[in-house]
Amino acid sequence: MSHRLSLSRAAHLVGVHRSTLQKMIREGRLATSEGMIEAGELRRAFPLAEIEGSGALEWVNRIKEESFGRRVRERMLPSQEVLAQRLFARGLELAELRRTVQRYHRLVEELESRLRADFGGHPAQAPALAALSDGLGRVLAGEDADAFAAIDDALRVMTPRVEVRPSGHEFEIEGHDSILQAGLKAGLRLPYGCGNGTCGLCRARVVDGEVQRIRTHDFPLTEAERSQGHVLMCAYSAVTDLRIETLEASGPEDIPRQEIVTTVRAVSALGEDTRLLHLQTPRSNRLRFLAGQLASLGAAEPSGDVHGTYPIASCPCDDRNLHFHVARDDGDPFAQKLFSGALRPGERVTVVGPEGAFVLRGEPGRPLHFLAAGLGFAPVKSLVEYALSADASPAFALAWLASRPAGHYLANQCRAWAEALDGFDWLPFCDADPAAGAAAMVAALRDRDDFGRAEIYVAGPESFVRAAEFELLGAGIPPADLALLPL
Ligand code: FES
Repeated sequence: MSHRLSLSRAAHLVGVHRSTLQKMIREGRLATSEGMIEAGELRRAFPLAEIEGSGALEWVNRIKEESFGRRVRERMLPSQEVLAQRLFARGLELAELRRTVQRYHRLVEELESRLRADFGGHPAQAPALAALSDGLGRVLAGEDADAFAAIDDALRVMTPRVEVRPSGHEFEIEGHDSILQAGLKAGLRLPYGCGNGTCGLCRARVVDGEVQRIRTHDFPLTEAERSQGHVLMCAYSAVTDLRIETLEASGPEDIPRQEIVTTVRAVSALGEDTRLLHLQTPRSNRLRFLAGQLASLGAAEPSGDVHGTYPIASCPCDDRNLHFHVARDDGDPFAQKLFSGALRPGERVTVVGPEGAFVLRGEPGRPLHFLAAGLGFAPVKSLVEYALSADASPAFALAWLASRPAGHYLANQCRAWAEALDGFDWLPFCDADPAAGAAAMVAALRDRDDFGRAEIYVAGPESFVRAAEFELLGAGIPPADLALLPL
């Protein structure tokens, strides 16, 4: 029987991004059947020699070798209870397969004995009978062991796959993650609120597969909901591969406004006039937002609260840790408090939001071009991190304009993306004049093959955004392919 793999599992096995496989499928270099890839077809496209260097084998071996190491077990392995359930489910599958094989064995043995009884006495039939017997023997011995199928079996125990309906999105659950945590890490816009089993917003219906509760929850599911297969994604993990039904947010209009009291984790310098503010939400009250959105921050002052609104610079896939890049600004009371040193770790900051529609449109597979100037890098960073975690595109171009050479305050991060990822281009620009900088950026992007096919995101000071918009529209980019965030 052929072993069929989902796109994400196949990508995992051969150690490439899902978008790479999607590109190969589009180009006719990899065949699929009903959206699945057969193990043999994957082996043809990625010869066996390659999987040893792909990371998949290494990963499985590392788990085997280090499975008694406490840190590895905590980080990568599911809880003992979940692991036991998964092994039990695989054991049942194997027992059923064994019964099927035994039935075939008996059938073939009976067929062979009848043939011998009917024709065995005729010497002319002996060679044909021997060939038939050989052929049946080979069939019963089974197909050659398939390395991909074997690794896939191991991965199904360690990282079951979840398919979400109706979107068709897929993700895998690793370690102790709940269905919700794993989905958010994979960049899905799943519905949720508290993250700890009290609000009920993360309800989903399990259409196929088995789940295991991994934490208690206060929210009461009705008997009818339970019988229809509803679970709280924040409180359950998967025992087997799952198919679930839930509605993902399609845009900012689906994300409710929230007010959360957070704690300052750290304030660090990103440059002379820029600070990174790291806030952490309570475990039980995380901020649900889309990459590229903004939030208002409020902090107490004896003379009255101070407020400021900033783009969120971190990825929604880590919804407890919120990062903001704040510039020194005498006209911004919140920034003044931050730069005065009065906002220390442990202090409370109220976050209200999210707001704004500078989010990925999410047409999968389209190239993504980002143009940022100054602190416009903050929402762009969130978009890039989200797009990478969601495996949203095979091609990225990130152009960042600074008014002075030291202005690319996270250049190392950009270089790391470019070095680690095929199809990620990092283009730093330096010009004190926003309009000249925007013109130079657009001129550089126009030279790219994928310029006319890309979705383009522009963020920064108003003068820069308007200049870039003018250049991009002049270069023939349709307004529908442009998202603008003047700050
Ligand atoms: S997110 Fe609130 S119950 Fe799951």
